[in-house]
Amino acid sequence: MNTVYLAALEIGSHKVRTVVGEPRPDNQAHIMGYGECPSRGVRKGEIVDFDNALSCVRSSLLQAEEASNVTIYQVHLVFSGGHIKSMTNRGTVPVTDPDRIVTQEAVDNAMNNARAVNLPVEREVIHTIGQTFFLDDQQPLLRPIGMEAGRLSVDMLILHAIRNRMRNTIRVAAEADVNVEDSAFSALASAMAVLTADQKEGGVLLIDLGAGTTDYIAYAGKIIALAGALALGGDHVTNDIALGLNLPTAQAERLKISDASCMPDLARRQPPIRIPPEGGFEGRDISHSDLNLITHARMEETLLLIRDELDQRELRRRLSAGVVLVGGGAQMRDVTRLAERIFEVPATIGVPRGLSGLTEKVSLPECSACVGMLRYAIRNMDRSGAGSRFTDMLKTIFRKR
Ligand SMILES: Nc1ncnc2c1ncn2[C@@H]1O[C@H](COP(=O)(O)OP(=O)(O)OP(=O)(O)O)[C@@H](O)[C@H]1O
Ligand SMILES: [Mg+2]
Repeated sequence: MNTVYLAALEIGSHKVRTVVGEPRPDNQAHIMGYGECPSRGVRKGEIVDFDNALSCVRSSLLQAEEASNVTIYQVHLVFSGGHIKSMTNRGTVPVTDPDRIVTQEAVDNAMNNARAVNLPVEREVIHTIGQTFFLDDQQPLLRPIGMEAGRLSVDMLILHAIRNRMRNTIRVAAEADVNVEDSAFSALASAMAVLTADQKEGGVLLIDLGAGTTDYIAYAGKIIALAGALALGGDHVTNDIALGLNLPTAQAERLKISDASCMPDLARRQPPIRIPPEGGFEGRDISHSDLNLITHARMEETLLLIRDELDQRELRRRLSAGVVLVGGGAQMRDVTRLAERIFEVPATIGVPRGLSGLTEKVSLPECSACVGMLRYAIRNMDRSGAGSRFTDMLKTIFRKR
């Protein structure tokens, strides 16, 4: 009997990752293999050098194939990028049933109505996610079928992105000889890997701190209340350190990982850090306080932008389950303390859960999106037509097999 396996691919700004897994009961994943390649040709989640990005994708796929002993023909692709935006659109329909009872048909019509948005020509819808229903503009509710009303409305969260940038990502995968079966926004994928049903019901904010992008998604009362992306990430912290302390970028990246803290007040009594000579750089002592001030400023700016988005929708007081940080940036020293100070709720680091098999290499915050994409694919296996409209459209263009 053939083993069913699925592969998830993330073409990140820092690393290209491929996870191969086998579906298990309850939408769990048995990890069969993993491949990763340091990214080249990807910036802020977008392809800026096609050939370099392609060679990284090939290398990541090959590693995953060798580790899992399968040939990958199809992938489920994680999307990110600072150009991804969200909006909420309300769709309303009259309830035409003679007894004014809301039927499945009325729900479908309201949902279709809410999905119909006019976007600028360069943008494409990538996800439409139903939020809450309203009967005659009264209190929000989740299950309207069987209730009586004259008018049914539904709020739809719509994620949209710049079409050409998405197409370039899909084109790289296609050129590496794999079909893109489906795709999902990276924070949504990460949430699938990391969050529990209780956290989603209680209200939780997940932030994926990547290298070139920071993606976020907020759940409140079981629904996805907010999602978005910023073109800011760990690379910006590294660049700030390089510029601010006049260091080569590679030194700044190492310094960030080994010594930087997101909390400026923790460095006062610490001795200077000795940076050894390298290439044309002579070596120097760096003040811990300066390093932390720079790191703190950029991380604070990033998290405050997300807080503003939450506050505009009055969502912060609904985060009973706190904030969960994933992505490589979740490993920054004291980043949970900074998040707690900014969002005023407990913050933790998230790692993929519910896995079996070769879990060691993927049980890390930076693998959340890729592993979550696998779980997203497993969940959708039985739902024909569950793929995003955007991927359906693109895979007819690029399908190779
Ligand atoms: N231990 C660490 N301490 C501090 N920063 C770290 C650590 N490990 C990784 N990072 C940072 O995390 C970032 C990479 O995160 P990740 O691997 O999630 O990015 P990515 O998914 O490739 O990028 P993106 O999603 O933005 O396209 C880099 O900026 C890296 O410097
Ligand atoms: Mg990422």
